Formats: sequence, C-alpha cells, structure tokens
Amino acid sequence: MNNFKNLRGTVDLLPEQLIKWQNVEKIILEQLFRASVKEIRTPIIEMTELFMRGIGEATDVVSKEMYTFLDRGERSCTLRPEGTASVVRALIQNGISTKPSQKLWYMGPMFRYERPQAGRQRQFHQLGVEFVGYESERSDIEIITLAWDILEKLGIKDLNLEINTLGDQTDRSNFQKAFLKWLEVNKNYLDLDSQKRIDKNPLRILDTKNVKTKKILEDAPRLFDFLSEGSLERYSTIKENLKLIKIPFFENFNLVRGLDYYTHTAFEITSGALGSQATVCGGGRYDNLIRQMGGPETPAIGFAIGLERLILLSGKDLEKSRETDIYIVNKGVHAEIFAMELSRKLRKYDLKTELDLSRGSFSKQFKKANKIKSKSIIVIGDDEASNKEFVIRLFNNENSENQEERIPILDNIKLEHWINKNLFKKTL
Ligand code: HAM
Repeated sequence: MNNFKNLRGTVDLLPEQLIKWQNVEKIILEQLFRASVKEIRTPIIEMTELFMRGIGEATDVVSKEMYTFLDRGERSCTLRPEGTASVVRALIQNGISTKPSQKLWYMGPMFRYERPQAGRQRQFHQLGVEFVGYESERSDIEIITLAWDILEKLGIKDLNLEINTLGDQTDRSNFQKAFLKWLEVNKNYLDLDSQKRIDKNPLRILDTKNVKTKKILEDAPRLFDFLSEGSLERYSTIKENLKLIKIPFFENFNLVRGLDYYTHTAFEITSGALGSQATVCGGGRYDNLIRQMGGPETPAIGFAIGLERLILLSGKDLEKSRETDIYIVNKGVHAEIFAMELSRKLRKYDLKTELDLSRGSFSKQFKKANKIKSKSIIVIGDDEASNKEFVIRLFNNENSENQEERIPILDNIKLEHWINKNLFKKTL
C-alpha cells in the first residue's frame, strides 16, 4: 500500500484547478508582453551565500525560512526563497554592464519554511518583475502601475496600495542611530519578538503586528524625519505622479518590507478579501544590491506577486476552459486508424479536438461527447472507413441534422469549409 503524501506546505495542482492558473498566467503574459518586459529564467537552487548576502542574514527569510542543505559535494545549497537575488546574480554573471537597462520578468516556485495557512505555503509561486538600470522616479511609477494594472486586468477588486520611502543608506543609518537610542530606553515596553530584533534588524520592529508595541512606537523617532532633501523630493514626485495617473494609495510610514535590500520606494498591494495573508504584491527600489553583489553601480526596482493569493482573488469566470470543438467518435479496426490520421490532421487548425480512445459502444462515446459539451462530432465506423469518408455534424444543437455532412477523407477543402462555416462562424 502506498502511504506517501506531499510535504506539509506544498500542494498538488490538479487539472481542473490549473484551468484558472493557465487563464491567469495567460493574462499576465499578455500584459507583460504589451509592456515590453522580457522573461528571464534562473535555477531554482543556488549557493546559500547568494541569499545570505543578497537578502540579508538577519531577515526572517534567511534566518528562519530557507530550505538549505549540503549537496553531495558538501556545498551549501538553498532552494530560492525569492527571485530578485538570483536575477541580480544572473545579470552580473552574464555581463550586465553591456546592457545597462533591462525590463525582466520571471514566474515560478519559491520556497520558504513558514507556518502554512490559507494563502501561505512552503512551496509557493511568484510572478516577479525587475527593472534593472532604471533610476528616475518614472520607473517607480511604471513598476507600480504595471503591478496595479495586472491585478485590475484580472478583475481583482478591493485593492489597496501602500507606499513608503526608506531613503538612502545615509538617511537610514542616521535614523537607525536615533532609533537605537530610543530603543535602549524603551526596550522593556516592547513585545519579546521586537526585543529580539533590536540587535539584529531594528528596522523590522516598525513592521510589528503587536498592537501594544505599535502604540508605543508612535512616540519613536520616524524614518521620515531623517530623509535628505533629495530623498524627500523623490518621494513627493512619486506621490504627485500617482495622483496624476489616478492610482489611489495610502502612505504607511511603518512599511519597511522583510528583505534588507530596499532603498527609497517600498510598496505593497493588499486586498481586504484575503484575510490575514492580505499582501498580494510587494516590491521596491534596490539601488545598492547590484554593487553589493559584486556588479557595477546599478539602480533597480521591482515587485513580486504571490500567485496563490492572486488565484484566490481572481473571479470564477477564469475557471472556464475553452470548449472542445470536435470529438471524434470511432469504432472498428479500420475506423480507428482512419480516426487517428484525422485527429492529427485536425490539430493543424486552431481547434480543440479529442479522439475517443475507449473502443466503447457508439452510444457511450456519444454520451462522453455530450458530457464534455463538444460543439461538434466526427463519426467514423468501419462503413465510413471502407468508403474513405466520415460524418461531421454539429452536436448539442437542435438543428444539427441540417449541419451534418459526409466528407471524403482526402477532401481538405470541404472539411475546412465546414469548419469555417460551423465552428469559426462567430469569429470570422
Ligand atoms: P515578498 O514580499 O517577500 O517580496 O514576496 C512577494 C509576494 O510573494 C508576497 O506579497 C506574497 O504575495 C507572496 N508570498 C511570499 N511568501 C509567501 C508564502 N509563504 N506563501 C504564499 N505567498 C507568498 C519578494 O519576494 C521580493 N523579491 C519582491 C521584489 C522584487 N522586490 C523587488 N523586486
């Protein structure tokens, strides 16, 4: 007996569920194509060091959530917990300096050892977009609108865009000094988790969900007050532009994001319909990461959308698959070979066809065609095979008698004519 089960936090995606995934992915790919964003694929597994340096050792993702193991050559490897570090590595390795600006996307599984719940898995999927080599505020706007428009195009309602600025490195270290001083005095009033973060990653304390700590933090110094003139100007330009293009947003001074590489713009898009795991999209600018990883000084900005959350949010209309155009009912030794040839021929057209492989009775095959609501059927028995012809007719249609035709197997013109008249008539 087989008692195997999938690992906790991973899921099987079954054919019926995948219809929605495929429809969602198709809309996303169209949007990215129209925005001239190109695909990049990097390995799912990388050197552990890449994520430690790229994402930051003190982050939850790196310190608690990575799937890390030694391979047979005793090298420490990690299943990617996100895509940005890998994309940066791939660009540096493949000569980023020859192509200064690039708009890239990737889609695929990511791995984080988190407590699974609705909308949170250990193997989950992300669509990521990275604009590398782009510095101006216009790229911030373009990246935010791209994320927003993908979500809107999928018909997702009740979306909230939250933005913040984290300033540059100098702004942040000035703030950090003041914040650490304040933390020294107020340490004992904070929740335990936040206390633990003081030494490792104090900025993340701002992001706490603990209500009491949140209240106490209201009196703490604010990062916003340490921003240089340049950082402030950049941030207000972005806000003005968002208003001009009518994308509604909230400012959230406590939005610091969970990964260390961010500078200036940070943003998240949440949906009230998602419950506790409300963030469907997160992103921001990372102007120092590429240099930190050994590449040339290159500004960049990007985002990632969690596909599981996107699927939960998108509507029922995307659960429908395209209908079968022709179901091939066939029975008899000669008919089977004939049906197989015909099935291959039909795949050259933009049609969805299905060849019945059951060898069941004609009536059972008709029932199957009916069940899947095929628009038409081809019927081939040995009589048809010996006459080198087949019958094609509209199915599930009151007047199907009128649209029935006998077509010689070699008569492609007659077949095409019938298909054009009866199956493509709405689109032509
Ligand atoms: P992130 O905020 O860590 O950002 O993840 C982005 C999105 O991935 C989240 O908003 C959420 O929708 C989804 N997600 C994260 N963890 C899980 C999980 N355990 N289960 C299901 N969905 C999850 C990043 O990963 C950055 N690389 C985004 C970025 C790209 N920033 C700049 N460029």
